[in-house]
Amino acid sequence: MFYEHIHIPVMLSEISKYLIQNIYGVYVDCTFGNGGHTFYLLNKFKNIKIIAIDWDEQSLYRFNENKFNDRVIFIRDNFKNIKQILSNLHIDKVDGILADIGISSQQLNDLSRGFSFKSPRLDMRMDNRLKITAQTIINSTSANNLANIFYRYGEEYQSRKIANSICIHRKQKCINSAKELQNIVCAAKTRKRLNRRRRRTKIHTATKVFQALRIVVNSELDNLQQLLSIAPELLNCTGRVVIVSFHSLEDRMVKLNFKHNTCNGIYKTITKKVIKVSKDELNNNFRVRSARMRVAEKQ
Ligand SMILES: C[S@@+](CC[C@H](N)C(=O)[O-])C[C@H]1O[C@@H](n2cnc3c(N)ncnc32)[C@H](O)[C@@H]1O
Repeated sequence: MFYEHIHIPVMLSEISKYLIQNIYGVYVDCTFGNGGHTFYLLNKFKNIKIIAIDWDEQSLYRFNENKFNDRVIFIRDNFKNIKQILSNLHIDKVDGILADIGISSQQLNDLSRGFSFKSPRLDMRMDNRLKITAQTIINSTSANNLANIFYRYGEEYQSRKIANSICIHRKQKCINSAKELQNIVCAAKTRKRLNRRRRRTKIHTATKVFQALRIVVNSELDNLQQLLSIAPELLNCTGRVVIVSFHSLEDRMVKLNFKHNTCNGIYKTITKKVIKVSKDELNNNFRVRSARMRVAEKQ
């Protein structure tokens, strides 16, 4: 299907409504990806400027096709370095920060990247300059540490069973592909009998293990934590931070950070309840079903 190959930007109208408070402002899109949000916002608000960040080389190629040259700058870097990035551009503060965390459909669908279950590789680096791949972790981490990774970052309750099975397999042969890993995980897990409704909404058996590995390879929680910690310092008064996350570990971090900063008078929480994807949007793009958006405003 069309949407499986092209990345469809999530919650465009909601992000536009919550993020843009100053129509002459400067904004940061921390996760440029395929440029979906950046280009939409530049089109809609003719006087804003955007600093677009992404650490994936593919995003740079996508950026180079853009028509907004003087209103957008692309920086290939980790968004946790946002303070340094802005300082290099002689910018002290901005009017809004957007992060649409996770991976894009392009990254997921490119089999050479090793994110998908079908991939003949086991890589999972969003930035090919990172040193450790999923293959290294799977083949060289102790059973105990693997189990901890799956449990902590994937909330996988059969983590120990899966880790032991991986260790047995890799003694015979190095695990080199996502496909092999998926088969090992599926064979190791005890499957529950589900009723028809649960079967329809159920995630793939190996999803949690893959999520955990991706989080560790890319230090995703650490990056988000650093961004959340530095954001208040970089926002003008009434500037907003808008975070879209795709799993509960990230959403919990965002929620706690906004709550803490709101209690300290640094932020006003704009979205008292998390914002989910509308039914209409879900009909066109089922992949974003787990997206959760939270917004806070600098006081
Ligand atoms: C869900 S996609 C964003 C899609 C984008 N909003 C669009 O509409 O095209 C997430 C993007 O964030 C990037 N990313 C994730 N973590 C990052 C980090 N720590 N630093 C920079 N980019 C990151 C990924 O490489 C990916 O391109």
